[in-house]
Amino acid sequence: MQKKYLMTPGPTPVPSEVLLAQARPMIHHRTPDFSAMLMECVEGLKYVFQTTNDVLIFGCSGTGAMESAFVNCFCAGDKVIVARNGKFGDRMVKIAKTYGLEVVDLRYEWTETVKVADVDAALKANPDARGVVITQSETSSGVLNDVEAVGKLTADYPDCVLIVDSITGIGAVPCMTDAWGLDVVMTGSQKGLMLPPGLAAVSVSAKAWKAYERSTLPKFYFDWGPYKKNLADSTTPFTPAVSLIIGLVESIKMMREETIEGVIARHSRLAEATRRGCEALGMKLFAPPEGRGSAVTPVWVPEGVDGKQIVKIMKNKYGVTIAGGQDDYAGRIFRVGHLGYFGDFDIITTLAALEMTLAELGYDFERGAGIKAAEAVFMGE
Ligand SMILES: Cc1ncc(COP(=O)(O)O)c(C=O)c1O
Repeated sequence: MQKKYLMTPGPTPVPSEVLLAQARPMIHHRTPDFSAMLMECVEGLKYVFQTTNDVLIFGCSGTGAMESAFVNCFCAGDKVIVARNGKFGDRMVKIAKTYGLEVVDLRYEWTETVKVADVDAALKANPDARGVVITQSETSSGVLNDVEAVGKLTADYPDCVLIVDSITGIGAVPCMTDAWGLDVVMTGSQKGLMLPPGLAAVSVSAKAWKAYERSTLPKFYFDWGPYKKNLADSTTPFTPAVSLIIGLVESIKMMREETIEGVIARHSRLAEATRRGCEALGMKLFAPPEGRGSAVTPVWVPEGVDGKQIVKIMKNKYGVTIAGGQDDYAGRIFRVGHLGYFGDFDIITTLAALEMTLAELGYDFERGAGIKAAEAVFMGE
């Protein structure tokens, strides 16, 4: 037997409270019992998103929620400013182009943050832009973008909605949907919500509903209108992912118990311990100091070490699954996920497995230094 540790930024581990809830016998969705759970989830998500806006839940992965934002806010030919610095920002451009939108492309290296001054300049140069699209927490790079500052800019443009991919932001970093003026915010279940994959949620502001009224892009399953209308009757337009909703009731209960501030503080501590641990082993962090999120820690593979072997040995020999780099960074970085159901000792375990793996690969470092540095964070030193 080998005990397994899932240290990836999605899917993430699912607490036993959630697993057990999902194992209950199936119930029908047009029942008062299900309606009560659905509304508990909607209210809970509003708490997690820090919003009084509508929150809609879909049976799909995060990408479905991303696509829904485009088809519900725009018309073909609309101009949108997409600020991107990673794989998931790239996906936003692909979706925009799929639907015939004109993209004002603000493209950055994966190791950079989006520069707010550039968004400001792009808005001034394109006052007809109907949207600004940005990823808050880039899972491919660990970079955290300042969506609060971008929200201050779009507030001055009444016809321009701010669409935020917070799929690995929600539940890991502060995401103050209302206070920051974020019109559309999305997340996926297999991330900070501590569920299996298959659910996505989107918050929709009054400004975004105005864009919805104008939008003419084709939509059916992801048409926000029927979801809102049905929620008024505590139900859904189509068969919902019943077991995932039942699981979400439990994970929201856990998040409410810890408080959203507590959840975010825990993620910040786990991220800090992972960073300090890896640095103590002589490795360099991928994300820049001014924009490091708490969902995932990407680390440069040390010179002379085979990055793909690190991921392979950790998984096969020690049962610890971390993520490799994506696209151009495959084999050049590895990523430790700590988003969702994670505690201090998951980080200690991962750093221990990392040290043992690096030692096997002939990397020269002081054994135990990574664990010691992480312990210092957990002990408040
Ligand atoms: C920041 C971000 N955006 C979008 C997605 C896409 O979500 P999904 O794979 O659930 O469709 C992911 C998934 O990893 C993500 O991390």
